[in-house]
Amino acid sequence: MLDTELVKIDVNNIDHGIMKRAGAIIRRGGLVAFPTETVYGLGANGLDGAAAGRIFEAKGRPSDNPLILHISDVKELDKLVRSVPDSAVRLIDRFWPGPMTLVMDKSSRVPEEVTAGLDTVAVRMPDHEIAILLIRYAGVPIAAPSANISGKPSPTVAEHVMDDLMGRVDMIIDGGRVSIGVESTVIDVTCLPVTVLRPGGITLEQIREVAGDVSVDPALADIDGISVPRSPGMKYTHYSPEAQVIIIDGKVDRVAEKIKQMTRELEGQGRKVGILATEQTRQLYSRGVVIPAGDREAPGTIAARLFSILREFDKRKVDVILAESVEEKDMGLAVMNRLLKSAGYNVIKV
Ligand code: TXA
Ligand code: MG
Repeated sequence: MLDTELVKIDVNNIDHGIMKRAGAIIRRGGLVAFPTETVYGLGANGLDGAAAGRIFEAKGRPSDNPLILHISDVKELDKLVRSVPDSAVRLIDRFWPGPMTLVMDKSSRVPEEVTAGLDTVAVRMPDHEIAILLIRYAGVPIAAPSANISGKPSPTVAEHVMDDLMGRVDMIIDGGRVSIGVESTVIDVTCLPVTVLRPGGITLEQIREVAGDVSVDPALADIDGISVPRSPGMKYTHYSPEAQVIIIDGKVDRVAEKIKQMTRELEGQGRKVGILATEQTRQLYSRGVVIPAGDREAPGTIAARLFSILREFDKRKVDVILAESVEEKDMGLAVMNRLLKSAGYNVIKV
């Protein structure tokens, strides 16, 4: 057990003394959880294999799932990769700092614990003042997965990190609620067309504007989980609350009808039901624990709240979560990807 120090940082009035101390913890091999614009990350010195190894222990993360290196300046990229493809230069120009992670051929400086033995490394520059300062004060790139116990929904506020990692890390920096709420988009730029391995905060539509032709890892669309994803992390059960999650997919009015019917049946069996609704449908439900995630027409609003709502349903001790599907456009693609994984691909079509 570690004695976890909890600190609060106001992004508009940053305490540099604390940030320097946090950077020093990272530098000497410790673990610091910190906010980014996507989700909270669990950081360690990205050039120190033993430190990166501690991340896997703290999270209970499978050792074959590589980590993302976070940098505070594009200049730091050259030391971590063998070369920067033209496609990457254009994407970086447009989307860094931001929720985009690029997979490139790694340099010899990157320890194999970080890449789980792969020849490639994932790098991103976060768009969050606290994250950037932490990297600067650490003076090294920071290896960081999401700061949750492996398999749980990613943390979007510091309380989620505390629930999962108290006693397992040296410091947790509370910088308030994150803005995006789902993780970065992971793009393999070692090939053409560039290939999206994990949908996230930058949408396919946005990437297409810059990169033109973009392919999507076929394993993402593979509901049966038969093909092997190229992003190792995508093959694990993930984002799972304690409650069972069932997605209801189809035209929205029929989805709501089906959810109402299932809620009656499940409650009849003595089970407590949570309904992951939307602004457009919330008033249709009169039973169950109804939580509207956001606006169907603006799926980014749903992304922002999805993980915290999954955790909220657990706090309210529901047995089953009935989740409305959303259209897979814009941020809807990332939302459905996370929802499908949290449901273990349990989908009822109506
Ligand atoms: O927004 C984010 O990306 C957050 C914040 C903290 O930056 N981080 C995050 O890390 O989501 P993590 O570890 O939960 O997810 C990293 C994903 C995994 O799916 C992993 O398999 C993939 O990136 N990945 C990492 N290195 C890779 C590589 N060399 N090739 C393919 N996929 C890689
Ligand atoms: Mg994660």
